[in-house]
Amino acid sequence: MKILIVGSGGREHAIAWKVAQSPKAEKIYCAPGNAGIAEYAECVPIGAMEFDKLAAFAEEKQIDLTIIGMDDPLVGGIVDVFEEKGLRVFGPRKNAAILEGSKAFSKDLMKKYNIPTAAYETFTDPQAALEYLETAKFPIVLKADGLALGKGVLICETKEMAVDGVRQIMQDRKFGTAGDKMVIEEFMTGREVSVLSFVDGKIVKTMASAQDHKRAKDGDQGLNTGGMGNFSPTPFYTDEIDAFCQKNIFQPTVDAMAAEGRPFVGVIFFGLMLTEDGPKVLEYNARFGDPEAQVVLPRMKNDMIEVCEACIDGKLDEIDLQFVDDPCVCVVLASDGYPVSYEKGFPIRGLENFKDKDGYYVFHAGSAFNDKGEIVTNGGRVLGVTALGKDLKEARANAYKAVDWVDFDNKYYRHDIGKAIDEA
Ligand code: AMP
Ligand code: GLY
Repeated sequence: MKILIVGSGGREHAIAWKVAQSPKAEKIYCAPGNAGIAEYAECVPIGAMEFDKLAAFAEEKQIDLTIIGMDDPLVGGIVDVFEEKGLRVFGPRKNAAILEGSKAFSKDLMKKYNIPTAAYETFTDPQAALEYLETAKFPIVLKADGLALGKGVLICETKEMAVDGVRQIMQDRKFGTAGDKMVIEEFMTGREVSVLSFVDGKIVKTMASAQDHKRAKDGDQGLNTGGMGNFSPTPFYTDEIDAFCQKNIFQPTVDAMAAEGRPFVGVIFFGLMLTEDGPKVLEYNARFGDPEAQVVLPRMKNDMIEVCEACIDGKLDEIDLQFVDDPCVCVVLASDGYPVSYEKGFPIRGLENFKDKDGYYVFHAGSAFNDKGEIVTNGGRVLGVTALGKDLKEARANAYKAVDWVDFDNKYYRHDIGKAIDEA
């Protein structure tokens, strides 16, 4: 089969690597891809939001299956454009990707179908939001309704911070049209867990759990980022918690989307918080997580193409989703200054050290070839250094050992990815 992957990050590298394992994959393309993905796929210089060009490319090359990695094209309706042309594509349609694209939509869905989540109110008028804050409890959480590169959530300790937050989101439009609407919700405490799942419109099958590290600096300090590293599985996500979530969160979400006439096909990423009152949904994403994909896919035993096709065909019940016992840890190597400002274009040294090393992977998040054909840094998050181990501690030690195999100017990473493992 000919496969096209849309995206250019570590997640898409992990997807491309996984697809390349499938005996069904004859030829893989990635648009736009990166220097690491180029090892498995022919990279095509078409942007992820250029739907018509991508669909024309898929028609011309007779692509059998397109896998969409990123949120923006999904929320923008790329799947609908492909389907209109009769192209096979893995991912939710626009009317289902709204699960990630609008926080107000997802909160209303959870309320209507009794799916546990933080109490909230939705606002379209900044004045009404400011009035609400007069009697609210603090800390409180403000969320821009739309996509905001993972930055549209403000945790406000005090009323003053919240008032300022409402101004930033709804009046200054710091996140653009994502701030047309806003959700204000109760602040929850607990451990966070990411559970990714495959969905075929009717049923859901969950992948191994993972724990992300969203803050830029050690000790969960600094700004929120796309994710600085993670591990899978998380020991805090017990069988008992899983049973609760399967019954009260995962399948009810898929049923709710179907009942609303928005059947979801693709990956739902459940962002959960394990609170004292039980697990609650923090957010939904309509795609694989990044870097979650980098620790979950190396553990997945199944053929990626078979699973994607089963989802598209509504036959996920026929798939026995399996994961290896060996845990996996990913440490993100970023450009110093991420997520605010950073330099790019520095040569990356030592990538060859990962060749033929079983259980070690280097997924490229932001890399490119320069004019001399060297691989250089090309983003805030540059590499995801990933390793398996016989237990979480060994996987963590292996990942940090491999961090030293690669180098580039301004290399920055957290030293405490997986520290929570010691508390398990
Ligand atoms: P989200 O994009 O909705 O996942 O939010 C980003 C991060 O903000 C989450 O991973 C949490 O760490 C935090 N967060 C979001 N909502 C809440 C909440 N209601 N209470 C506490 N923390 C939250
Ligand atoms: N790592 C979190 C995300 O992909 O949104």
